[in-house]
Amino acid sequence: GAPVRVNISKIEPGQQMVAEWRGQPVFIVRRTDEVLGNLEKVAGQVADPESKASEQPAYVDPKNRSIKPELLVVVGLCTHLGCAPSFRPEVAAADLGADWLGGYFCPCHGSKYDMAGRVYKSQPAPLNLPVPPHSYETDNVIIIG
Ligand code: FES
Repeated sequence: GAPVRVNISKIEPGQQMVAEWRGQPVFIVRRTDEVLGNLEKVAGQVADPESKASEQPAYVDPKNRSIKPELLVVVGLCTHLGCAPSFRPEVAAADLGADWLGGYFCPCHGSKYDMAGRVYKSQPAPLNLPVPPHSYETDNVIIIG
């Protein structure tokens, strides 16, 4: 499929937009400093903190899984059986586990991911959400694919 050009200028800090690439949803999140700090806090709780087993281009930073720290780009399909995880950025997601600092929650079988798309330990999903090939045309335009 052809690469997709996405204007990200309207994503508010802490929020996401959903693009489409090859028929798949792609989540693009503008992460705040607080969210980036939380990635370090939960590194001991996620299954593959440096994403050694997960699909992602070599040019992304393995820890925050992005080209620019503040902008996460991941394929929005649960790595268990492909359901669409829901965006749950709130730190106080207490009903889903007191130690969870927000991210993505899969409604099908309950897999939890952090704000880098890294799956927590002992979830049905085996892998982190894939990072698709992408690049920046300008600060506000991402090319996916
Ligand atoms: Fe997401 Fe099963 S499809 S947990």
